[in-house]
Formats: sequence, C-alpha cells, structure tokens
Amino acid sequence: MKVLGIESSCDECSAAVVEDGRRVLSNIVLSQVDFHRPYYGVVPEIASRKHVEWIRTVVEDSLKEAAVSKNEVDAVAVTFRPGLIGSLLVGLSYAKGLAWSLRLPLVGVDHILAHLYAPHLERDIDYPYLGLLVSGGHTIIARVERYDRIEVLGTTIDDAVGEAFDKVAKFYDIGFPGGVAIDRLSKTGNPRAFRFPRPSLHKGEAYYDVSYSGLKTAVIHQSEQFWDGISERSLPNLAASFQKAAIDILVDRALAAASDNGLRRIVAGGGVAANSYLRERFAAESGVEVIFPSLKLCTDNAAMVAGFGYHALKDGKASDFSLNAEARVRMFKRKYP
Ligand code: KG4
Ligand code: ZN
Repeated sequence: MKVLGIESSCDECSAAVVEDGRRVLSNIVLSQVDFHRPYYGVVPEIASRKHVEWIRTVVEDSLKEAAVSKNEVDAVAVTFRPGLIGSLLVGLSYAKGLAWSLRLPLVGVDHILAHLYAPHLERDIDYPYLGLLVSGGHTIIARVERYDRIEVLGTTIDDAVGEAFDKVAKFYDIGFPGGVAIDRLSKTGNPRAFRFPRPSLHKGEAYYDVSYSGLKTAVIHQSEQFWDGISERSLPNLAASFQKAAIDILVDRALAAASDNGLRRIVAGGGVAANSYLRERFAAESGVEVIFPSLKLCTDNAAMVAGFGYHALKDGKASDFSLNAEARVRMFKRKYP
C-alpha cells in the first residue's frame, strides 16, 4: 500500500511516498529557512504563503522521485495538528483536494505522534518504550504503548527545548535555526565555563517535567553571574555551557522516567534529537538502549506522516473530509492525544 504523506505544520514544506508504513520511496523536504533567517524565527504569514507557492511542486516531485503515478497512490496522509494554523491549512486543503479528486481515503495525522513514528521507518522497534519528543514546539517525555497511544509522563512547563536554543541563538546572533548553530559553535567551547542553573520542580505530578525559561533567561540576561571565573568568557564557551545545561536537564529526566517505569528502551525524535551532545550523552549510558532516527527524519518531514498514516488506515481510522486543522494539541499536558 502506497501512502502519499504531506507535512506543512511549520516551515518545512514536505511530501513523501511510503510503502507499507516502512519503505520510503521518496521524502522531499523544502526548507523555508532562508526566508525566516532575517527574523531569527518562523514568521507564520511568510510560512503559509511559501507553502501555498510550493505545495503542488513538492507533491509532484515526491511522486516523480518515487516513480509512482497519482493513480498508483492508495491513500493521502496529512498533518492536521499541532502547528501554525495557516501552514497546516495549506497542506490539509491540498491533501483533501487531491484525495477527493482521486477518490482516495484521507487520514489526518498528529505531528507529535508522527515524530515518534519516524525511527520506525528505519528499523523494527518493539513497544513499549520511553518516547522523548524534543523539537522547537514540544518537549514531551512519554510512555509509548503503540504507534497511536502514548501516556505523557512529563513535559515542559514553559518553553520547548528547541525554542530555548532558538532564543539564545537569536539574542547572541549565533545563527538560525538556533539549535544547529549552537550545536556547531559548542564544539569549540568549554561546557564548564558557565554553570547555568537547572530547574528543581521534581515533586509529585511534575516529577518528569522540565523547564527552560529560567535557563534561557539566565543565559541571556545573567550570564556573568554564572561564569565560573576561570575559563575565558567567549561565545563558544557560553554556547557549550548552555547546551550542556539544556541537554543535561532532558537526559536526567528521561533516564529517571525510563527507569521508574521499567522501560529499557528510549526512542528520541524531533529536531533537537539531531543534537550531537544529546547523542553523545545517551551513547555513554549503559543499561538502556537509545534509538535515534537519522538526521533527516529528526526534523519535520512527510515520510513520518505517510508511515503513521499507513497504520491508522489499516486500523480503520480514515478521516472525514470535514477534518479541520488544529493549532494546539488537544490535551496539552498530561493526557495525550
Ligand atoms: O522537529 P522540528 O523540525 O520542528 C518542530 O516540530 O518544532 O524541530 C525544530 C527545532 C528548532 O528549535 C531547532 O533549533 C532544533 O529543532 N534543532 C536542534 C538541532 N537541530 C535542530 N536543536 C539542537 N541541536 C541541533 N543539532
Ligand atoms: Zn516537528
């Protein structure tokens, strides 16, 4: 079964053809990053306009690369939440039009669950496991029971981890997207030059929650206060120290959640899962298997949407054409989806 996937929730305009939820025949990702760079962040109006310009080409290119004609497609899967509403609507409307005209089933896909599905495109992974979804919009630590069933154990109480990378990079003019730029700059810095604060909110229900706004503020406005007084105060040192703090917070909570819940496997996804220090930290852990998708499948892409869509369709969960886009996750905190 060949599923055409469409992803337009943020600033990546992507289409893919995936066979049987596993074989990626094509995965075209057009990044808008050059258009948002002058603003150091994604500008929603620019994003939706670019999607309108590119969506048709990206879908046609994905079919061409997969060597699949429109008539050979069996279903259309599309991200319908969460994300920028204007951007989501472009992909969703295009997917509906295409599915309607070709008389194909349509399936709306949740972007968070699609990220968690991404590594399944590359290898067999048994459930349950601890899912660690870390991106520009989300930071979720969850027990994953099935491709479509997760129990959120912890989440950020303020900023997403990727957002903190992006804001710090913006303030210090390090580059855009911030995560990639900080990751690169950190390689030449001393991660112990600054001892930035770690949040302590680990009580009761909030045991696996994380927080990034305090760290972000410390790095932006109070970096002097956390300088250890020995190392040189340079930007690479600041970047490396921030990255260490941001990732240590995540690794600490993820390991605690896995161990407390009897899970010996952690599966990471989302843009921040591309971070090299996060990968190093987990690689050094024994007693837990940590699985990362390849870099291309960490950031937003349509293959993960098509892969997820295949399973949803097999489970009889095709969507109605009245499906609408939703900017936010429905139950954002502890119960998801
Ligand atoms: O998953 P994604 O492409 O989009 C969302 O769903 O948000 O993630 C984008 C986020 C951005 O915040 C970006 O700065 C971050 O992922 N990111 C990274 C790295 N590569 C991308 N953060 C840390 N280290 C990286 N290497
Ligand atoms: Zn994403």
